[in-house]
Amino acid sequence: MVLMYPDLSTGSTPLSGLAEALAGPGYLVVPDFLDEETGRALLDEITAFRENGILHEAAVGRGQEKQIRSEIRGDEVLWLDPANLTEAQRAYWTRMEAVRTLLNQELFLGLFDLEAHLACYPPGAFYKAHLDCHRGSSERTVSAIVYLNRDWTPEDGGILRLYTDRIAGKDGPFLDITPGFGKLVLFLSADFWHEVLPARRERFSLTGWFRKRSENAPL
Ligand code: OGA
Ligand code: MN
Repeated sequence: MVLMYPDLSTGSTPLSGLAEALAGPGYLVVPDFLDEETGRALLDEITAFRENGILHEAAVGRGQEKQIRSEIRGDEVLWLDPANLTEAQRAYWTRMEAVRTLLNQELFLGLFDLEAHLACYPPGAFYKAHLDCHRGSSERTVSAIVYLNRDWTPEDGGILRLYTDRIAGKDGPFLDITPGFGKLVLFLSADFWHEVLPARRERFSLTGWFRKRSENAPL
């Protein structure tokens, strides 16, 4: 089951639906999460960053294990710096903070921050099936992807394939989600395998993770 909250951006749909969906199925799709103006500004920004070569190839793993593996993922990214956000990024960040606060209030998730990057999948790029949680770490708790692509058609590829059965994982049933403008996808990072099928035109998004403190971290 996918829960849809089409009018969330106007504030007329209770945000509490988000928490219910995460507590139940563990994922949800919000088609019109981002308002037109913010989405357009972010799209202009990332298009310019890409043209100016400011994005860089995304890595897999972390710390010393970090490496570029284009046979696993071919997107180009730019991490957002919360201390230096552009106006458009600030609008996105504020909206995400509302989601974080709500999830903490309703589900006591203890999410303490957000990390996010802009991403571009050039034609031909993909991201093989994976979980967002790094091995040995439970910090990434909720994955949140916002798409910036206008008039995306099935022929454009770049589908997010979300494997919806937590036990069967990537051998189980899946939901194919098109990366259409303004759409938000939320899911529990440790529970859901997912992949990005090859894009046939440039595919832009903002990928974020709400994190909780790792169990071993000093207070
Ligand atoms: C990721 C990811 C999915 C998407 O960056 O970890 O899975 O649809 N992205 O962009
Ligand atoms: Mn992922």
